[in-house]
Amino acid sequence: MTSKQIKLKLAAILCMLPLLALVVLNSRTVPTSTAQEFDAAAVFKAKCTMCHGQKAERKFDASKSDDELLQIVLKSGKPGMPAFETKGITEEQAKAIIAHMKSLHQQ
Ligand code: HEC
Repeated sequence: MTSKQIKLKLAAILCMLPLLALVVLNSRTVPTSTAQEFDAAAVFKAKCTMCHGQKAERKFDASKSDDELLQIVLKSGKPGMPAFETKGITEEQAKAIIAHMKSLHQQ
């Protein structure tokens, strides 16, 4: 290889570097999870505040166990409380809403 050829090769490699860097950086910005965040606060506002109040201050005993509260949200069993399992709320989502209600309650 002549020194001219080596210089050309080097130039070619140097030209590739920014491209490589772009590829690496781009792959880093791709989100690792596409799962949508469930917005417990928004769902609570939309579906629960009319009965439980903005701060979950009504008809909510935060000292009950999480499991008990979860069963009530999903299956109700309380007069006047809808069973949300049949309204598209999953167990995970119900847990998130209950955690949100508890945090509101402490304020
Ligand atoms: C139509 C009115 C109404 C709506 C809407 C409503 N609730 Fe209730 N909820 C009640 C009533 C009434 C009770 C029973 C309270 C009692 O027995 O002391 C209750 C009880 C509960 C309890 C158990 C509290 C306790 O102290 O035993 C939880 C947890 C709860 N609701 C969560 C929710 C969530 C989360 C939503 C929204 C996704 C919601 N509720 C929407 C009326 C409602």
